[in-house]
Amino acid sequence: MKSFYLETFGCQMNVHDSEKVIGTLLERGYRQTEDAGEASLVLYNTCSIRDKAEQKVFNKLQQHKRHGKEQVIGVLGCVAQQEGEKIFERAPYVSLVVGSASYTKLPELLVQIEQGNRRVTGLSLDTDETFDTPLTRRDNPYRAFLTIIEGCDKNCAYCVVPFTRGPERSRAAQGVLDEVKQLAAAGYTEIMLLGQNVNSYLDPSPRGWNFARLLREVGQVEGIRRVRFTTSHPRDFTKEIIDAIDDVPALCNHVHLPVQSGSSKVLEAMQRQYTREQYLERIGWMKNARRKISITTDIIVGFPGETEADFQETVRLLDEVEYDGLFSFKYSQRPNTPALRFDDHVPEEEKGRRLLQLLEHQRTILVRNNAGYVGETEQVHTEHFNAATGQWVGKTTQHKTVNFTHPQGPEAAIEGRYLDVLVTRSGVASLAGEAIVM
Ligand code: 5AD
Ligand code: SF4
Repeated sequence: MKSFYLETFGCQMNVHDSEKVIGTLLERGYRQTEDAGEASLVLYNTCSIRDKAEQKVFNKLQQHKRHGKEQVIGVLGCVAQQEGEKIFERAPYVSLVVGSASYTKLPELLVQIEQGNRRVTGLSLDTDETFDTPLTRRDNPYRAFLTIIEGCDKNCAYCVVPFTRGPERSRAAQGVLDEVKQLAAAGYTEIMLLGQNVNSYLDPSPRGWNFARLLREVGQVEGIRRVRFTTSHPRDFTKEIIDAIDDVPALCNHVHLPVQSGSSKVLEAMQRQYTREQYLERIGWMKNARRKISITTDIIVGFPGETEADFQETVRLLDEVEYDGLFSFKYSQRPNTPALRFDDHVPEEEKGRRLLQLLEHQRTILVRNNAGYVGETEQVHTEHFNAATGQWVGKTTQHKTVNFTHPQGPEAAIEGRYLDVLVTRSGVASLAGEAIVM
């Protein structure tokens, strides 16, 4: 029997794409294995957002250099789309290169492989529909990822995504709602709406719903208790989205709104299409909401031309927003991007220093923020039991991780359930507490 091994790198879009690929392969009679050595088909779903991510993939591929001829090695995802046929030169033992916009063609491509073809590609970005997901094999029985918009029409100077995932295309709202209802009927209670620019969503049907409207509708599907979405772009982020969160209890009170820099000058060089002030206006909507909305962000340090003064503006932004979470990265030059033309590069060492300073600063904010939850009762969606700590692990609506004890310990059988937890302690990365059992 044919078997496959699949390893995923990168963002949640990639994780979800892998679920689609797994479903497609199982349907074609393949068996999934955790052992890359024994698989007849080895696939890597790759990320090229930063050079390091890409290097990781080529290092993985190196391991297959001396493997038996019987094994088919395939590269999927963003590195596949970005490097295309060049991958065959760099790693001649690879025989399948497929970008994310071509996964619906995977069955045909696999037939070509099965027929002995040693170099097969699916690299077209010229596709309207990559949403059909009837074969998706979801990994988690409670929380389902759902792509509502693919691609990106922004032109951020540092970013490879418009090249790896192509132009923006939204899925029809009816299809989204139908699938959410099916997921609810199948027992899912949490939905994560996905898109590179999820809030640029625009229903292509005559109904023409925008993202805020779609959110409201998804949040009102019976059986769905939590709706999250990622990732949002500040330019298209409207107050209507915050109003929807205020009005519809199932919409989680957490917004991930990548700022990238606190300096309007750097934002302009990044071609982000908003200023620091416009970004802070959106933050103001969240701060003034009736519900307490947690806010997380992404920041790039050391973009070409970023001075120490620009960087300090970013540090001050952390204080102003008081983020609940921060993902920060050193600027990495990417192929095909507008920023390749820029000079005035920040030395690697200096990027490292800024990154550390940012993380250190954010640490103190997090400690303060999280301490505010001690003594509160939070509803937690339980994920799993951690045998090492003897605690259950779950998430609040604000996407805080809570480690908590339960009187029945590991026997409690509360996976996937929503429980009230009294928060008794807080740390940098998580809260700790005790389940309230009636
Ligand atoms: N270099 C460093 N970080 C990057 N990101 C995107 N492109 C680059 C790059 N070239 C970061 C952004 C984005 C996150 C997913 O990755 O902060 O929001
Ligand atoms: Fe990586 Fe971006 Fe591709 Fe996601 S879309 S896998 S983050 S390059």
